[in-house]
Amino acid sequence: MNNLVIAVDGPAGAGKSTVAKIIAKKLNINYIDTGAMYRAITYKAIKENINIEDEKSLIEMAKNTQIDFKENNIYLDGQIINEEIRTLTVSSNVSKVAQIKEIREIMVDLQRKMGQKYSVIMDGRDIGSYVFKDADFKFYLTAGANERANRRYKELKEKGHDVKLDDIIKDIQNRDEIDSKRDFAPLVKADDAIEIDTSNKNIDEVVNDIMKYIN
Ligand code: C5P
Repeated sequence: MNNLVIAVDGPAGAGKSTVAKIIAKKLNINYIDTGAMYRAITYKAIKENINIEDEKSLIEMAKNTQIDFKENNIYLDGQIINEEIRTLTVSSNVSKVAQIKEIREIMVDLQRKMGQKYSVIMDGRDIGSYVFKDADFKFYLTAGANERANRRYKELKEKGHDVKLDDIIKDIQNRDEIDSKRDFAPLVKADDAIEIDTSNKNIDEVVNDIMKYIN
């Protein structure tokens, strides 16, 4: 593998995507938000009235779905869906969809193909522990659950979403639980990942910490 692969994992709201986007720009490499891929499948399922418990239909649908990233936009079957996938309805269902092994295999296959085509910084839950076990750099970002919920709340409010802090706290706790307990490729720190607690750090400090390792 000649391309540079940087894995950034951790629970929801730890700052992964904000930091990964900045580093992608600095290094002039692609940023891939793998959470957006699972969200896209979930969004499509909701739109098509597929029951989230109906694994067979979800898998069939995922097999017939096209997901692409171009210039920091995510495309679902040719349509940009950057904002549609950020709603609380998608958030509260995505972890159930993401625990389905067959769906993960489809997503992981796409992610590995991206890493073979070009240099990437990829954020998610299982990038360092499963998707790219031999990534050049692996980081695991954490922060306390309340801090993470507050950050997510501010981010969604700024984007104009009508959300309540209580609902975000519940959503994050629920996703942490499902993501870390699922059987196949759960949220876990890879043994060789560098752990960074972002609770008392601003974005620049986390970016600098990571850049020190990469340089
Ligand atoms: O990163 P984000 O919070 O948008 O991810 C949404 C959800 O997608 C996670 O809570 C998790 O259920 C799932 N996910 C995953 N594996 C990844 C990335 C995200 O299971 N690599």
